[in-house]
Amino acid sequence: MKIGIYYFTRTGNCKRIAEKIGEKLNLEVYPIKDDVDWTGFKAYFKFQSYAKGKKKMKITYHDTDKLDRFILVSPVWGSRMPPTVKLFLENIPMEKVDMVVSSKMDKMRGIEDANRIVHIKQYSSGEDEKIEEYIKTFV
Ligand SMILES: Cc1cc2nc3c(=O)[nH]c(=O)nc-3n(C[C@H](O)[C@H](O)[C@H](O)COP(=O)(O)O)c2cc1C
Repeated sequence: MKIGIYYFTRTGNCKRIAEKIGEKLNLEVYPIKDDVDWTGFKAYFKFQSYAKGKKKMKITYHDTDKLDRFILVSPVWGSRMPPTVKLFLENIPMEKVDMVVSSKMDKMRGIEDANRIVHIKQYSSGEDEKIEEYIKTFV
């Protein structure tokens, strides 16, 4: 089974989590990039325009062809997935996706069809334990 680990990040939490998972599974991790500047407080307002489809973005990511399963590490934005991640998932069936989400407190809505959902709270001391627990599902 070919697994691809992808992440989207603004402030580094999802990159860190993806890298920890990648290290344990001995797999490379790939960023999902867009053409939007998400720096600063503006991001909180800006993302609404993209989420509502008022603005369009372009994304780039490592080839997903021939992958059987995806591990997608994503922050929660407005209780949902960021528009960048939504676009990434446009042509990928959710049954193939393990969603590993990072947030201040909220769970991510709209991902009920995912193969697996792992929720990791930002700054939580249980991050490594949650990752460990998740990794066990691969053996
Ligand atoms: C635009 C925006 C919206 C967010 N919305 C939520 C939210 O609805 N609930 C929540 O618990 N955290 C929310 N957060 C916090 C992020 O999910 C959290 O900081 C996450 O760890 C960020 O991951 P990153 O460092 O990989 O970007 C939001 C952050 C941003 C920038």
